Amino acid sequence: MPGRLIVFEGGEGSGKSTQAARVADRLDAVLTRQPGGTEIGASIREMLLSTSTTGLSDRAEALLMAADRAQHVDELIRPTLQSGRDVVCDRYFASSIAYQGAARGLGIDEVRALSMFAVGEVLPNLVVLLDVPVELGLGRSTGATDRFEMQDVGFHQRVRETFVALSASEPNWVVVDATASVDEVAAAVDAALERLG
Ligand code: TYD
Repeated sequence: MPGRLIVFEGGEGSGKSTQAARVADRLDAVLTRQPGGTEIGASIREMLLSTSTTGLSDRAEALLMAADRAQHVDELIRPTLQSGRDVVCDRYFASSIAYQGAARGLGIDEVRALSMFAVGEVLPNLVVLLDVPVELGLGRSTGATDRFEMQDVGFHQRVRETFVALSASEPNWVVVDATASVDEVAAAVDAALERLG
């Protein structure tokens, strides 16, 4: 692909959205997010995040995340990369591995396989993991609590541990300590971008 896909991952309150916006600006890339990066995805996001969604099964949740992702890749990400423009995405399939595979307990391998079906050949060139202790991240969250933020601390611990484990086994991941100030995190993210060449 002529364009590059740069993904930000992390738990709640890790500052991903701020850093993703900064990098997109710097690279003149298309900034987008999962779930919800397309019009269809926005409807799926609403269903997934709303606290008025009750009784959604874990497998159905994973499939809705995958449906959002497939639509996003087909409608926006692949065409943009093919046109030669970079894409910065706030969360990608590692979030499904961490949240649905590990924290919900559906299985890492099962959710990875589902994610591969959703994205086809469109894999990230770089994944930046903004790592922050769970209590600190949850304490930073502002605004209304969504269906994931209301999960217990143990859920979020499993998410964090899974991201860290993935970062250790995947060569295209960089871990940034997100407890530092926004400017310090930004400097570490810029250093990570040098890996893109
Ligand atoms: P996000 O928009 O990053 O929320 P926030 O702005 O609060 O960080 O993500 C929405 C929520 O969706 C977040 O709690 C993580 C969850 N999520 C999954 O469980 N699986 C996924 O595959 C994705 C992309 C997100």
